[in-house]
Amino acid sequence: MAENQKTATLSLDGTTYELPVLSPSAGPDVLDIRKLYGQADVFTYDPGFTSTASCESKITYIDGDKGELLYRGYPIDQLAEKSHYLEVCYLLLYGELPTRAQMEDFEYRITRHTMIHEQIHNFFRGFRRDSHPMATMVGVVGAMSAFYHDSLDINDPWQREVASMRLIAKLPTIAAMAYKYSIGQPFVYPRNDLSYAENFLNMCFSVPAEPYKVEPALAKAMDRIFTLHADHEQNASTSTVRLAGSSGANPFACIAAGIACLWGPAHGGANQACLEMLREIGSVDKIPEYIKRAKDKDDPFRLMGFGHRVYKNFDPRAKVMKESADEVLDLLGIHDNPTLQVAKELEKIALEDEYFVSKKLYPNVDFYSGIILEAMGFPTSMFTPIFALSRTVGWISQWKEMIEDPTNKIGRPRQLYTGATFRDYVDVEKR
Ligand code: SDX
Repeated sequence: MAENQKTATLSLDGTTYELPVLSPSAGPDVLDIRKLYGQADVFTYDPGFTSTASCESKITYIDGDKGELLYRGYPIDQLAEKSHYLEVCYLLLYGELPTRAQMEDFEYRITRHTMIHEQIHNFFRGFRRDSHPMATMVGVVGAMSAFYHDSLDINDPWQREVASMRLIAKLPTIAAMAYKYSIGQPFVYPRNDLSYAENFLNMCFSVPAEPYKVEPALAKAMDRIFTLHADHEQNASTSTVRLAGSSGANPFACIAAGIACLWGPAHGGANQACLEMLREIGSVDKIPEYIKRAKDKDDPFRLMGFGHRVYKNFDPRAKVMKESADEVLDLLGIHDNPTLQVAKELEKIALEDEYFVSKKLYPNVDFYSGIILEAMGFPTSMFTPIFALSRTVGWISQWKEMIEDPTNKIGRPRQLYTGATFRDYVDVEKR
């Protein structure tokens, strides 16, 4: 251990162990327990990883108490206002904001990877029309491993780069195709003359029967939603991608695993669940009944879009999303939207209620996003697919960082075993 290394002391059964304390560039110190089991023959216990740093990363930093979110050091509110999604993708992937020339090259490469292999269209037709688009996305993204054989070798930097470009570029195409398939409309091909967000809106809402013009202000709102969802440290789906990637699985399989995890209502599925909850509440006078249920330990109901493992203050993304909701609804001429009225009143009441205040429960990224997406014309079933396509750059940036870390090893946690200890087999006649 280095001479001036800061340490923590653990005393166990009369033996003292010195644990190195690692200092971050921001956030809490980290106790390095990598050698603890070998030295003290004990495991640490942290289901849900509430107090556990699973990796070292330089990509995204969250200060839950301050309600701060930084992508490579840049605050999310400044990026949402001044940047755009593809520039944020470059920043997350490569660590620095691009020069104009770097941005043009990156945009050119992404744009020319937006089409998917024509045969992949057949996969969609194997699903029921009423399949949830997330089911289709998990299936189709995983199946990309069966097509893009020249970008499966994770040890080849060029193949890692191509797989990253393909995933960032093709996820919107796949999400839009899942939507079109669910409503029985023909697939719309990507267009190279449109921006990333314009392309997605065009692939979702245009039809061959008439021209479709993307409203620039809606494209800007869509682009901002992509940026707000791009990455978020070691959340459940990112940890899933890292764990899948640690076995050497190909990038398409790893991202499919991340999509599967994101689907859960406690995670990315909360945006759909939140809007459905707001609709179920229906009017402001019904709010107290639902607040009461959310506080009732015997009632599994929780306020969807509220609370967060890390944020014990406002989720900065929710603040930007709330402002954007007002802008988009105003732009679309939607006034007195009952769902937005319920959301704003619910937020106000909850933030004055001792239960939510004491538990530091605030609106999270999912609380307002559904109101915007619904106003833009998306069904609730498309909310989590939009979260997934936005988060693909975060997943792939974290995956790339892990693969390129020379200390990377397969993730293999241990357990606190409380089951039966050794016993001999008993023949059925003696049971
Ligand atoms: C995302 O991790 C990320 O970064 C995720 C994400 C990302 O960008 O990747 O930010 C995206 O997933 C946002 C979260 C979306 N999920 C929801 O909105 C679902 C509703 N929220 C909860 O299920 C919950 O808040 C979680 C899952 C988000 C966080 O759960 P934790 O950290 O495990 O906290 P907890 O469940 O232990 O709750 C602490 C207390 C509990 O009460 P006590 O047992 O201490 O008495 O707060 C209560 C909970 O019952 N609580 C809630 C609540 N959330 C927590 N009570 C009512 N309504 C809620 N929403």
